[in-house]
Amino acid sequence: MEGRDRWESRTSFIMAAIGSAVGLGNVWRFPYIAYQGGGGAFLIPYFIALFTAGIPMLILEMGLGQRMQRAAPDAFGSIRPKLRWFGWWAAGLSAGIVIYYSTILSWSWVYLWHSINIDWGSNAEDFFMNQVLQRSEGPGHLGAPIWYLVIGMLLTWALIYLILRKGVKNVSKVVLITVPLPTLLLLILLIRGLTLPGAIEGIKFYLVPNFSKLKEPSIWLMAYGQIFFSLSLASGVMIAYGSFLGKKSEITNSAWITALANCGTSFFAGFAVFSMLGYLAHMQGLPVPDVTTSGTGLAFVAYPTAITKLPALNSIFGIIFFITLLSLGIDSAFALQEAFTTGFYDRWKLSHNRVTLIFVIIAFFISLIFTTSGGYYWFDIVDKWICDFGLVTVGLVQCIIIGYVYDIQEFRRYLNTISEISLGQWWVIALRYITPAVLLIILISNFVNEFRSTYNQYPRWATTLGGWGVLFFFAVLGYLLHRKSTSRL
Ligand code: PFF
Repeated sequence: MEGRDRWESRTSFIMAAIGSAVGLGNVWRFPYIAYQGGGGAFLIPYFIALFTAGIPMLILEMGLGQRMQRAAPDAFGSIRPKLRWFGWWAAGLSAGIVIYYSTILSWSWVYLWHSINIDWGSNAEDFFMNQVLQRSEGPGHLGAPIWYLVIGMLLTWALIYLILRKGVKNVSKVVLITVPLPTLLLLILLIRGLTLPGAIEGIKFYLVPNFSKLKEPSIWLMAYGQIFFSLSLASGVMIAYGSFLGKKSEITNSAWITALANCGTSFFAGFAVFSMLGYLAHMQGLPVPDVTTSGTGLAFVAYPTAITKLPALNSIFGIIFFITLLSLGIDSAFALQEAFTTGFYDRWKLSHNRVTLIFVIIAFFISLIFTTSGGYYWFDIVDKWICDFGLVTVGLVQCIIIGYVYDIQEFRRYLNTISEISLGQWWVIALRYITPAVLLIILISNFVNEFRSTYNQYPRWATTLGGWGVLFFFAVLGYLLHRKSTSRL
Protein backbone atom coordinates (compact mmCIF):
# COMPACT_ATOMS: atom_id res chain seq x y z
CA MET A 1 0.00 0.00 0.00
CA GLU A 2 1.31 3.39 -0.91
CA GLY A 3 2.09 5.89 1.81
CA ARG A 4 2.43 3.35 4.57
CA ASP A 5 5.04 4.06 7.15
CA ARG A 6 8.15 1.94 6.52
CA TRP A 7 11.23 0.74 8.35
CA GLU A 8 14.37 2.38 7.04
CA SER A 9 15.99 -0.98 6.45
CA ARG A 10 15.75 -4.60 7.34
CA THR A 11 18.23 -3.98 10.14
CA SER A 12 15.93 -1.36 11.66
CA PHE A 13 13.06 -3.80 11.64
CA ILE A 14 15.09 -6.53 13.31
CA MET A 15 16.52 -4.08 15.83
CA ALA A 16 13.05 -2.77 16.69
CA ALA A 17 11.72 -6.30 17.08
CA ILE A 18 14.64 -7.17 19.33
CA GLY A 19 14.07 -3.93 21.23
CA SER A 20 10.50 -4.90 21.92
CA ALA A 21 11.40 -8.42 22.94
CA VAL A 22 14.39 -7.59 25.07
CA GLY A 23 12.99 -5.84 28.09
CA LEU A 24 12.72 -6.04 31.82
CA GLY A 25 11.60 -9.65 31.48
CA ASN A 26 15.07 -10.68 30.34
CA VAL A 27 16.73 -9.23 33.37
CA TRP A 28 14.32 -9.71 36.20
CA ARG A 29 12.28 -12.69 35.16
CA PHE A 30 14.43 -15.07 33.17
CA PRO A 31 17.35 -15.56 35.58
CA TYR A 32 15.02 -16.24 38.46
CA ILE A 33 12.80 -18.62 36.56
CA ALA A 34 15.87 -20.44 35.30
CA TYR A 35 17.15 -20.80 38.83
CA GLN A 36 13.78 -22.06 40.09
CA GLY A 37 13.30 -24.33 37.14
CA GLY A 38 16.42 -26.41 37.62
CA GLY A 39 19.27 -24.06 36.67
CA GLY A 40 21.14 -25.36 33.65
CA ALA A 41 18.54 -28.08 33.15
CA PHE A 42 15.91 -25.38 32.61
CA LEU A 43 17.51 -24.61 29.27
CA ILE A 44 15.96 -27.85 27.97
CA PRO A 45 12.28 -26.89 28.44
CA TYR A 46 13.18 -23.32 27.58
CA PHE A 47 14.61 -24.18 24.18
CA ILE A 48 11.89 -26.71 23.49
CA ALA A 49 9.35 -23.95 24.20
CA LEU A 50 11.28 -21.61 21.95
CA PHE A 51 11.27 -24.00 19.00
CA THR A 52 7.81 -25.49 19.39
CA ALA A 53 5.92 -22.31 20.23
CA GLY A 54 7.98 -19.13 20.38
CA ILE A 55 9.57 -19.11 16.95
CA PRO A 56 6.51 -20.51 15.11
CA MET A 57 4.32 -17.86 16.69
CA LEU A 58 6.81 -15.10 16.00
CA ILE A 59 6.93 -16.10 12.33
CA LEU A 60 3.13 -16.19 12.28
CA GLU A 61 2.81 -12.68 13.74
CA MET A 62 5.51 -10.99 11.69
CA GLY A 63 4.27 -12.80 8.58
CA LEU A 64 0.63 -11.89 9.15
CA GLY A 65 1.46 -8.20 9.59
CA GLN A 66 3.66 -8.22 6.51
CA ARG A 67 1.15 -10.01 4.34
CA MET A 68 -1.89 -7.96 5.34
CA GLN A 69 0.07 -4.71 5.66
CA ARG A 70 -2.04 -3.98 8.69
CA ALA A 71 -1.80 -4.12 12.49
CA ALA A 72 -3.79 -6.71 14.47
CA PRO A 73 -7.33 -5.28 14.09
CA ASP A 74 -7.34 -5.13 10.31
CA ALA A 75 -4.97 -8.07 9.90
CA PHE A 76 -7.52 -10.32 11.58
CA GLY A 77 -10.33 -8.36 9.94
CA SER A 78 -8.88 -9.31 6.56
CA ILE A 79 -9.22 -12.98 7.42
CA ARG A 80 -12.86 -12.62 8.48
CA PRO A 81 -14.46 -9.21 9.08
CA LYS A 82 -15.91 -10.39 12.39
CA LEU A 83 -12.44 -11.15 13.69
CA ARG A 84 -11.60 -7.48 13.72
CA TRP A 85 -13.10 -7.43 17.19
CA PHE A 86 -10.55 -9.94 18.36
CA GLY A 87 -7.76 -7.90 16.75
CA TRP A 88 -8.90 -4.80 18.61
CA TRP A 89 -9.05 -6.72 21.84
CA ALA A 90 -5.47 -7.93 21.44
CA ALA A 91 -4.31 -4.45 20.49
CA GLY A 92 -6.23 -3.00 23.45
CA LEU A 93 -4.42 -5.33 25.82
CA SER A 94 -1.13 -3.99 24.55
CA ALA A 95 -2.37 -0.50 25.42
CA GLY A 96 -3.19 -1.85 28.87
CA ILE A 97 0.30 -3.28 29.24
CA VAL A 98 2.06 -0.10 28.25
CA ILE A 99 0.02 1.84 30.79
CA TYR A 100 1.24 -0.25 33.68
CA TYR A 101 4.67 -0.98 32.18
CA SER A 102 5.26 2.78 32.34
CA THR A 103 5.06 2.50 36.13
CA ILE A 104 8.31 0.55 36.25
CA LEU A 105 9.95 3.16 34.07
CA SER A 106 8.66 5.86 36.39
CA TRP A 107 10.22 4.09 39.38
CA SER A 108 13.45 3.73 37.42
CA TRP A 109 13.63 7.49 36.84
CA VAL A 110 13.14 8.07 40.54
CA TYR A 111 15.86 5.55 41.35
CA LEU A 112 18.18 7.09 38.82
CA TRP A 113 17.89 10.26 40.85
CA HIS A 114 18.43 8.42 44.15
CA SER A 115 21.48 6.67 42.70
CA ILE A 116 23.42 9.90 42.89
CA ASN A 117 23.68 9.57 46.66
CA ILE A 118 22.67 5.91 46.99
CA ASP A 119 19.75 7.07 49.09
CA TRP A 120 18.39 3.60 49.71
CA GLY A 121 21.33 2.86 52.01
CA SER A 122 21.38 -0.49 53.73
CA ASN A 123 17.64 -1.09 53.92
CA ALA A 124 16.60 -1.03 50.30
CA GLU A 125 13.36 -2.86 50.96
CA ASP A 126 12.08 -0.32 53.43
CA PHE A 127 13.22 2.46 51.13
CA PHE A 128 11.35 1.00 48.16
CA MET A 129 8.09 0.10 49.86
CA ASN A 130 7.79 2.82 52.47
CA GLN A 131 9.72 5.78 51.23
CA VAL A 132 9.47 5.63 47.46
CA LEU A 133 6.13 3.90 46.95
CA GLN A 134 4.73 4.91 50.34
CA ARG A 135 2.74 1.75 50.03
CA SER A 136 -0.65 1.75 51.73
CA GLU A 137 -2.26 -1.18 53.57
CA GLY A 138 -4.06 -2.52 50.56
CA PRO A 139 -5.70 -1.80 47.22
CA GLY A 140 -8.63 -0.15 48.95
CA HIS A 141 -6.42 2.68 50.24
CA LEU A 142 -5.43 4.58 47.15
CA GLY A 143 -4.36 8.03 48.33
CA ALA A 144 -3.23 10.85 46.09
CA PRO A 145 -0.61 10.57 43.34
CA ILE A 146 2.91 10.95 44.75
CA TRP A 147 4.60 13.88 43.06
CA TYR A 148 7.98 12.38 42.16
CA LEU A 149 6.35 9.25 40.73
CA VAL A 150 4.18 11.57 38.66
CA ILE A 151 7.33 13.28 37.37
CA GLY A 152 8.73 9.86 36.48
CA MET A 153 5.52 9.13 34.58
CA LEU A 154 5.68 12.47 32.80
CA LEU A 155 9.23 11.82 31.68
CA THR A 156 8.28 8.37 30.44
CA TRP A 157 5.26 9.48 28.43
CA ALA A 158 7.05 12.54 27.08
CA LEU A 159 9.83 10.30 25.84
CA ILE A 160 7.40 7.87 24.26
CA TYR A 161 5.63 10.75 22.55
CA LEU A 162 8.87 12.23 21.20
CA ILE A 163 9.97 8.88 19.85
CA LEU A 164 6.67 7.88 18.27
CA ARG A 165 5.26 11.12 16.97
CA LYS A 166 7.08 10.90 13.65
CA GLY A 167 6.30 7.24 13.24
CA VAL A 168 8.40 4.28 12.41
CA LYS A 169 11.17 6.20 10.66
CA ASN A 170 12.09 7.73 13.96
CA VAL A 171 11.81 4.41 15.77
CA SER A 172 14.29 3.02 13.23
CA LYS A 173 16.84 5.52 14.52
CA VAL A 174 16.02 5.30 18.21
CA VAL A 175 16.47 1.54 18.38
CA LEU A 176 20.01 1.93 17.13
CA ILE A 177 20.67 3.34 20.60
CA THR A 178 18.16 1.62 22.86
CA VAL A 179 19.12 -1.88 21.74
CA PRO A 180 22.93 -1.84 21.95
CA LEU A 181 23.08 0.48 24.98
CA PRO A 182 21.58 -1.87 27.59
CA THR A 183 23.64 -4.74 26.22
CA LEU A 184 26.79 -2.75 26.69
CA LEU A 185 25.75 -1.65 30.17
CA LEU A 186 24.88 -5.22 31.10
CA LEU A 187 28.37 -6.18 30.02
CA ILE A 188 29.84 -3.60 32.37
CA LEU A 189 27.66 -4.87 35.20
CA LEU A 190 28.65 -8.42 34.35
CA ILE A 191 32.36 -7.67 34.48
CA ARG A 192 31.93 -5.89 37.79
CA GLY A 193 29.81 -8.75 39.14
CA LEU A 194 32.15 -11.52 38.08
CA THR A 195 35.14 -9.89 39.71
CA LEU A 196 33.47 -9.78 43.13
CA PRO A 197 33.83 -12.39 45.87
CA GLY A 198 30.95 -14.86 45.96
CA ALA A 199 30.16 -14.39 42.28
CA ILE A 200 30.91 -18.00 41.48
CA GLU A 201 28.47 -19.19 44.13
CA GLY A 202 25.79 -17.08 42.50
CA ILE A 203 26.54 -18.43 39.04
CA LYS A 204 26.49 -21.97 40.40
CA PHE A 205 22.98 -21.47 41.69
CA TYR A 206 21.93 -20.07 38.38
CA LEU A 207 23.38 -22.83 36.27
CA VAL A 208 24.02 -26.10 38.13
CA PRO A 209 21.57 -28.45 36.44
CA ASN A 210 18.93 -30.17 38.48
CA PHE A 211 17.34 -32.58 36.06
CA SER A 212 14.79 -33.87 38.53
CA LYS A 213 13.00 -30.52 38.27
CA LEU A 214 12.07 -31.33 34.70
CA LYS A 215 9.56 -33.87 35.99
CA GLU A 216 7.40 -31.07 37.38
CA PRO A 217 4.81 -29.91 34.85
CA SER A 218 4.84 -26.40 36.29
CA ILE A 219 8.43 -25.92 35.11
CA TRP A 220 7.34 -26.60 31.54
CA LEU A 221 4.48 -24.15 31.84
CA MET A 222 6.89 -21.57 33.21
CA ALA A 223 9.19 -22.10 30.25
CA TYR A 224 6.38 -21.56 27.75
CA GLY A 225 5.03 -18.58 29.67
CA GLN A 226 8.42 -16.96 29.78
CA ILE A 227 9.00 -17.50 26.05
CA PHE A 228 5.67 -15.85 25.24
CA PHE A 229 6.21 -12.85 27.45
CA SER A 230 9.80 -12.46 26.42
CA LEU A 231 9.18 -12.50 22.68
CA SER A 232 6.33 -9.97 23.14
CA LEU A 233 3.94 -12.44 21.53
CA ALA A 234 0.15 -12.35 21.51
CA SER A 235 0.01 -8.61 22.08
CA GLY A 236 -0.21 -7.43 18.50
CA VAL A 237 3.27 -5.88 18.68
CA MET A 238 4.93 -8.15 16.18
CA ILE A 239 1.95 -7.93 13.82
CA ALA A 240 2.15 -4.13 13.82
CA TYR A 241 5.91 -4.20 13.35
CA GLY A 242 5.61 -6.72 10.51
CA SER A 243 3.06 -4.48 8.83
CA PHE A 244 5.67 -1.79 8.29
CA LEU A 245 7.72 -4.15 6.15
CA GLY A 246 7.54 -4.03 2.37
CA LYS A 247 5.56 -6.71 0.55
CA LYS A 248 8.71 -8.49 -0.53
CA SER A 249 10.46 -8.47 2.81
CA GLU A 250 11.92 -11.59 4.28
CA ILE A 251 10.29 -13.03 7.42
CA THR A 252 11.54 -16.33 8.74
CA ASN A 253 15.20 -15.50 9.07
CA SER A 254 14.39 -12.19 10.74
CA ALA A 255 12.20 -14.03 13.24
CA TRP A 256 14.98 -16.49 14.05
CA ILE A 257 17.47 -13.67 14.54
CA THR A 258 15.07 -11.79 16.82
CA ALA A 259 14.29 -14.85 18.90
CA LEU A 260 17.89 -15.98 19.30
CA ALA A 261 19.11 -12.48 20.14
CA ASN A 262 16.41 -12.20 22.76
CA CYS A 263 17.11 -15.53 24.39
CA GLY A 264 20.85 -14.94 24.21
CA THR A 265 20.36 -11.65 26.07
CA SER A 266 18.34 -13.41 28.76
CA PHE A 267 21.03 -16.00 29.28
CA PHE A 268 23.70 -13.36 29.41
CA ALA A 269 21.70 -11.14 31.78
CA GLY A 270 21.49 -14.12 34.14
CA PHE A 271 25.25 -13.94 34.66
CA ALA A 272 25.13 -10.22 35.42
CA VAL A 273 22.31 -10.71 37.91
CA PHE A 274 23.50 -13.87 39.63
CA SER A 275 27.12 -12.82 40.00
CA MET A 276 25.87 -9.78 41.87
CA LEU A 277 23.43 -11.82 43.98
CA GLY A 278 26.28 -14.20 44.79
CA TYR A 279 28.24 -11.22 46.04
CA LEU A 280 25.30 -10.01 48.09
CA ALA A 281 24.87 -13.44 49.68
CA HIS A 282 28.58 -13.50 50.43
CA MET A 283 28.49 -10.09 52.09
CA GLN A 284 25.43 -10.90 54.14
CA GLY A 285 26.63 -14.38 55.05
CA LEU A 286 23.44 -15.88 53.66
CA PRO A 287 22.89 -18.71 51.18
CA VAL A 288 22.20 -17.49 47.64
CA PRO A 289 18.50 -18.56 47.58
CA ASP A 290 17.82 -16.23 50.50
CA VAL A 291 18.78 -13.16 48.53
CA THR A 292 17.21 -14.29 45.28
CA THR A 293 14.04 -12.66 44.08
CA SER A 294 12.42 -11.78 40.82
CA GLY A 295 10.44 -8.84 39.54
CA THR A 296 10.40 -5.57 41.37
CA GLY A 297 12.16 -7.18 44.35
CA LEU A 298 15.21 -7.89 42.25
CA ALA A 299 15.42 -4.56 40.48
CA PHE A 300 14.54 -2.25 43.34
CA VAL A 301 15.65 -4.18 46.40
CA ALA A 302 18.23 -6.96 45.91
CA TYR A 303 20.29 -5.36 43.17
CA PRO A 304 20.39 -1.92 44.82
CA THR A 305 21.43 -3.58 48.10
CA ALA A 306 24.33 -5.23 46.32
CA ILE A 307 25.26 -1.86 44.82
CA THR A 308 25.41 -0.31 48.29
CA LYS A 309 27.89 -2.97 49.30
CA LEU A 310 30.26 -2.44 46.40
CA PRO A 311 33.69 -1.31 47.52
CA ALA A 312 33.80 1.70 45.20
CA LEU A 313 31.95 3.67 42.54
CA ASN A 314 28.58 2.71 44.03
CA SER A 315 26.79 5.66 42.61
CA ILE A 316 28.17 5.05 39.11
CA PHE A 317 26.97 1.46 39.20
CA GLY A 318 23.58 2.59 40.49
CA ILE A 319 23.28 4.99 37.59
CA ILE A 320 24.39 2.36 35.11
CA PHE A 321 21.88 -0.13 36.46
CA PHE A 322 18.89 2.21 36.25
CA ILE A 323 19.84 3.50 32.82
CA THR A 324 19.97 -0.16 31.81
CA LEU A 325 16.43 -0.66 33.06
CA LEU A 326 15.20 2.48 31.33
CA SER A 327 16.80 1.63 28.02
CA LEU A 328 15.58 -1.95 28.25
CA GLY A 329 12.04 -0.89 28.97
CA ILE A 330 11.50 2.08 26.73
CA ASP A 331 11.58 0.21 23.42
CA SER A 332 9.25 -2.45 24.75
CA ALA A 333 6.92 0.33 25.88
CA PHE A 334 6.72 2.20 22.62
CA ALA A 335 6.32 -1.04 20.69
CA LEU A 336 3.25 -1.80 22.79
CA GLN A 337 1.78 1.60 22.17
CA GLU A 338 2.41 1.30 18.45
CA ALA A 339 0.61 -2.03 18.39
CA PHE A 340 -2.54 -0.24 19.51
CA THR A 341 -2.29 3.08 17.70
CA THR A 342 -1.36 1.56 14.32
CA GLY A 343 -4.89 0.15 14.26
CA PHE A 344 -6.13 3.75 14.13
CA TYR A 345 -3.86 4.85 11.29
CA ASP A 346 -4.82 1.77 9.34
CA ARG A 347 -8.50 2.43 9.58
CA TRP A 348 -9.02 6.14 9.83
CA LYS A 349 -5.84 7.46 8.21
CA LEU A 350 -5.27 9.80 11.14
CA SER A 351 -2.00 11.62 11.55
CA HIS A 352 0.66 9.87 13.56
CA ASN A 353 1.38 12.92 15.64
CA ARG A 354 -2.25 13.41 16.57
CA VAL A 355 -3.01 9.82 17.56
CA THR A 356 0.23 9.54 19.50
CA LEU A 357 -0.45 12.74 21.39
CA ILE A 358 -4.03 11.83 22.26
CA PHE A 359 -3.01 8.36 23.37
CA VAL A 360 -0.12 9.59 25.48
CA ILE A 361 -2.29 12.15 27.27
CA ILE A 362 -5.06 9.69 28.07
CA ALA A 363 -2.58 7.00 29.06
CA PHE A 364 -0.71 9.41 31.31
CA PHE A 365 -3.86 10.24 33.25
CA ILE A 366 -4.85 6.61 33.62
CA SER A 367 -1.35 5.66 34.71
CA LEU A 368 -1.60 8.12 37.60
CA ILE A 369 -3.48 5.40 39.49
CA PHE A 370 -0.18 3.56 39.71
CA THR A 371 1.58 6.55 41.26
CA THR A 372 -0.64 6.52 44.34
CA SER A 373 0.11 4.74 47.61
CA GLY A 374 -2.23 1.92 46.68
CA GLY A 375 -0.94 1.92 43.10
CA TYR A 376 1.53 -0.89 43.65
CA TYR A 377 -1.27 -3.37 44.34
CA TRP A 378 -3.20 -2.35 41.26
CA PHE A 379 -0.07 -2.60 39.18
CA ASP A 380 0.47 -6.12 40.45
CA ILE A 381 -3.12 -7.19 39.79
CA VAL A 382 -3.40 -5.72 36.30
CA ASP A 383 -0.03 -7.22 35.32
CA LYS A 384 -1.02 -10.65 36.55
CA TRP A 385 -4.38 -10.72 34.78
CA ILE A 386 -3.30 -9.26 31.48
CA CYS A 387 -0.32 -11.63 31.21
CA ASP A 388 -1.75 -14.80 32.71
CA PHE A 389 -5.25 -14.61 31.31
CA GLY A 390 -5.30 -11.96 28.58
CA LEU A 391 -2.19 -12.75 26.58
CA VAL A 392 -2.58 -16.51 26.94
CA THR A 393 -6.13 -16.31 25.59
CA VAL A 394 -5.06 -14.11 22.71
CA GLY A 395 -2.25 -16.55 21.85
CA LEU A 396 -4.64 -19.47 21.93
CA VAL A 397 -7.31 -17.83 19.79
CA GLN A 398 -4.66 -16.63 17.37
CA CYS A 399 -3.40 -20.19 16.84
CA ILE A 400 -6.92 -21.42 16.27
CA ILE A 401 -7.65 -18.67 13.75
CA ILE A 402 -4.48 -19.21 11.77
CA GLY A 403 -4.42 -22.98 12.16
CA TYR A 404 -8.06 -23.69 11.39
CA VAL A 405 -9.86 -20.67 9.92
CA TYR A 406 -7.13 -19.32 7.69
CA ASP A 407 -5.48 -21.56 5.14
CA ILE A 408 -2.26 -22.22 7.03
CA GLN A 409 -0.69 -24.34 4.27
CA GLU A 410 -1.20 -21.58 1.78
CA PHE A 411 0.22 -19.10 4.29
CA ARG A 412 3.29 -21.31 4.70
CA ARG A 413 3.80 -21.42 0.93
CA TYR A 414 3.46 -17.64 0.82
CA LEU A 415 6.12 -17.23 3.51
CA ASN A 416 8.38 -19.62 1.66
CA THR A 417 8.21 -17.51 -1.49
CA ILE A 418 9.60 -14.49 0.34
CA SER A 419 11.81 -15.92 3.03
CA GLU A 420 15.41 -17.01 3.26
CA ILE A 421 14.76 -20.02 5.47
CA SER A 422 12.17 -22.42 4.19
CA LEU A 423 9.39 -23.40 6.58
CA GLY A 424 8.62 -27.08 6.84
CA GLN A 425 5.54 -28.89 8.10
CA TRP A 426 6.85 -28.59 11.65
CA TRP A 427 5.63 -25.03 11.64
CA VAL A 428 2.09 -26.11 10.86
CA ILE A 429 2.21 -28.86 13.48
CA ALA A 430 3.52 -26.42 16.10
CA LEU A 431 0.78 -23.89 15.47
CA ARG A 432 -2.08 -26.28 15.00
CA TYR A 433 -1.40 -28.68 17.83
CA ILE A 434 1.50 -28.00 20.15
CA THR A 435 1.17 -24.29 20.88
CA PRO A 436 -2.61 -24.24 21.37
CA ALA A 437 -2.47 -27.35 23.55
CA VAL A 438 0.16 -25.84 25.80
CA LEU A 439 -1.61 -22.50 25.98
CA LEU A 440 -4.86 -24.20 26.88
CA ILE A 441 -3.16 -26.10 29.70
CA ILE A 442 -1.55 -22.89 30.96
CA LEU A 443 -4.88 -21.11 30.88
CA ILE A 444 -6.70 -23.87 32.73
CA SER A 445 -4.01 -24.13 35.37
CA ASN A 446 -4.05 -20.35 35.85
CA PHE A 447 -7.81 -20.49 36.35
CA VAL A 448 -7.57 -23.35 38.81
CA ASN A 449 -4.86 -21.60 40.81
CA GLU A 450 -6.85 -18.43 40.93
CA PHE A 451 -9.97 -20.10 42.18
CA ARG A 452 -8.07 -22.07 44.78
CA SER A 453 -6.73 -18.96 46.40
CA THR A 454 -6.82 -15.38 45.22
CA TYR A 455 -3.59 -14.00 43.89
CA ASN A 456 -1.40 -12.61 46.69
CA GLN A 457 -4.45 -12.76 48.95
CA TYR A 458 -5.91 -9.63 47.48
CA PRO A 459 -9.59 -9.11 48.29
CA ARG A 460 -11.87 -10.57 45.65
CA TRP A 461 -13.43 -7.23 44.80
CA ALA A 462 -9.99 -5.88 43.88
CA THR A 463 -9.08 -8.75 41.58
CA THR A 464 -12.54 -8.69 40.05
CA LEU A 465 -12.18 -5.02 39.29
CA GLY A 466 -8.50 -4.75 38.37
CA GLY A 467 -8.21 -8.21 36.83
CA TRP A 468 -11.42 -9.45 35.21
CA GLY A 469 -12.79 -5.90 34.98
CA VAL A 470 -9.82 -4.67 32.98
CA LEU A 471 -10.00 -7.65 30.60
CA PHE A 472 -13.71 -7.08 30.15
CA PHE A 473 -13.18 -3.38 29.59
CA PHE A 474 -10.81 -4.11 26.70
CA ALA A 475 -13.24 -6.62 25.24
CA VAL A 476 -15.97 -3.95 25.25
CA LEU A 477 -13.60 -1.32 23.89
CA GLY A 478 -12.56 -3.78 21.19
CA TYR A 479 -16.18 -4.37 20.29
CA LEU A 480 -16.95 -0.65 20.09
CA LEU A 481 -13.91 0.00 17.91
CA HIS A 482 -14.87 -2.96 15.78
CA ARG A 483 -18.39 -1.56 15.32
CA LYS A 484 -17.01 1.84 14.51
CA SER A 485 -14.51 0.48 12.03
CA THR A 486 -17.05 -1.62 10.17
CA SER A 487 -19.59 1.18 9.99
CA ARG A 488 -17.07 3.31 8.10
CA LEU A 489 -16.28 0.64 5.53
N1 PFF B 1 9.13 -8.67 26.03
C1 PFF B 1 9.17 -7.70 27.08
C2 PFF B 1 10.08 -8.20 28.18
O1 PFF B 1 10.55 -9.34 28.13
O2 PFF B 1 10.32 -7.42 29.08
C3 PFF B 1 7.87 -7.39 27.69
C4 PFF B 1 6.75 -7.25 26.75
C5 PFF B 1 6.80 -6.28 25.79
C6 PFF B 1 5.71 -8.13 26.79
C7 PFF B 1 5.82 -6.19 24.87
C8 PFF B 1 4.70 -8.06 25.89
C9 PFF B 1 4.77 -7.10 24.93
F1 PFF B 1 3.84 -7.01 24.04
